[in-house]
Formats: sequence, structure tokens, C-alpha cells
Amino acid sequence: MDFKKRIPLNKRFIVAGNWKMNCNLLETIQLIESFSASLNSSGIKPGTVLSNDNTLPEMIVFPPSTNISVAAQLLKDSGVKVGAQNFYHMDKGAYTGEISADMIKSCGAEFVLVGHSERREIFKESDKLLNQKILSAQKQGLQPVFCCGETLRDRENQKTFSLIRRQLRDGLVKTDPSNMVVAYEPIWAIGTGKTATPEQAASVHQFISEELTRMFGEKGTLIPILYGGSVNAGNADQLFACPEINGALIGGASLKGEGFFSIYKSALKMKMKNSEQAS
Ligand code: PGA
Repeated sequence: MDFKKRIPLNKRFIVAGNWKMNCNLLETIQLIESFSASLNSSGIKPGTVLSNDNTLPEMIVFPPSTNISVAAQLLKDSGVKVGAQNFYHMDKGAYTGEISADMIKSCGAEFVLVGHSERREIFKESDKLLNQKILSAQKQGLQPVFCCGETLRDRENQKTFSLIRRQLRDGLVKTDPSNMVVAYEPIWAIGTGKTATPEQAASVHQFISEELTRMFGEKGTLIPILYGGSVNAGNADQLFACPEINGALIGGASLKGEGFFSIYKSALKMKMKNSEQAS
């Protein structure tokens, strides 16, 4: 297999944990201690640059906003980055209950999720609002992880590709392709224990990659595309073996330090194999 041809070595690979509305302050500290112990004992610093065109997979955690500061403090110097699950796109003002991109950044967040299906479905966030959020995040130097994906009904009605095209086209208007990550998260696979098969995921990732290239040219080819939807330690190897998949956004399985670290190890194994084959 010609890995060099199949996966550009300079393409980032990311393992990200979306904790959703889980983990109070104490649980946040315990969870971070748990996967940090595994990282420390194996001497791994995620995101380390190995050579000009190769880095270790990145690791990002998205705790609840109340715990971003403490997570960023605990993870300082570990290589693990912290992100926010949500924010409001206005800079400041009379928006009771909301927090801005600047506020989450000042707590230590470097990434932010935008367009997660739970925000789209439960909180009715529109493509236009999501676009405003991405523009606001990028203005503050935060890196958005933009999520897209279809419902089971869309899939059954053969609407997957047209829907994702719309989500990308409307959500990413005027955004900076050099500072973003995209995640494909089929809604029918989120929290259901049903994972897209590697073939199903690969075909949508391929489509997203082509669409991003159409929208952004060369820069679009370098946007990492993560898969999300019931990823766990048991299926990560298989998913990461697809060259179209550049990492994972993990919900449930990121809430156990050991399981989250196992998924990271799958990413590491795949990256190492890839660079050995290329050299
Ligand atoms: P899950 O969630 O891994 O629990 O399916 C993924 C997500 O919602 O990002």
C-alpha cells in the first residue's frame, strides 16, 4: 500500500474529546489526571513535531465552559489542548447568560466546537448563526471545529450529500480555511452505539474533502476531517485505517481516561505506520 501517496504526511491528525454536559469540577480534575497519567508514563506529548512534515497526533478536550480554566492549567505543558463546547458570537454586551469568544480564550481555550448536531437540533442554531460563530472565533484566534452530518431520515432519502454540501457552503462563507477543522458526525451514530462503517464514513469524508477543495482550493485540501459517532477503543483502529479520516471527535468514550488514551494510541499507531511506509 502506498501510504505516501494516500495520506499527505503534513495533514494533521486529531483525537478530540467532547465531554458534553458531563463532569463537575472534581470530575474534571479526576478525568484529566487519569489520561495524563497514561501520557506521562508513556512519555508522549501530543502534537510534538517530529520532522518538517510529521507531527504526533494532537489531543484536544472540550470540558464544560465552567471548567476550561482549570483544565487549561492542569494541561499546561502537556501538549493537550483545551476547547470550548459553545459560545455566543457577539463581542460583548447585554446578552444575559452568554459568553464570548474572547472570554473562553482568556480562560485558556484554543478551539471551539461549532455546529454540533445537539446545538443544531436542541437549540435550533441555524447555518447563518453558525457562520457568525466561526467568524467570531477566528477573529479571536480560536480554531473552530465545524461539525456537519445527516439524520437517519436524510440518509434513507439519499439526502446525505446535498445536506452536507449545504451545511458546508452556508456555514463556512468567508471563513479562513487555514484555521479550522471539520468533523463529520452522522446524527444516527451519535450516542447510539451505531458507528458508520469505515466505507460509509470514508465516502462522506471524500465528498467533504472535495467540497472543501472546491471552496478553498489548495488550503481546503489541508483541513483535517474528523469522524464522530460512537467512536471507542474497539473501533478506532478500523476507522483510522481509512486515509480519508484524519482523527475523531469522541463523546461517551472520552469520559473514561483509559479508553480515551487507548483511542489516542490507535491514532499514534496509525501515524507511525504511515510515516514508516513513507520513508
Ligand atoms: P458519541 O458522541 O461518541 O458519544 O457518539 C460524539 C459527539 O457527539 O461528538
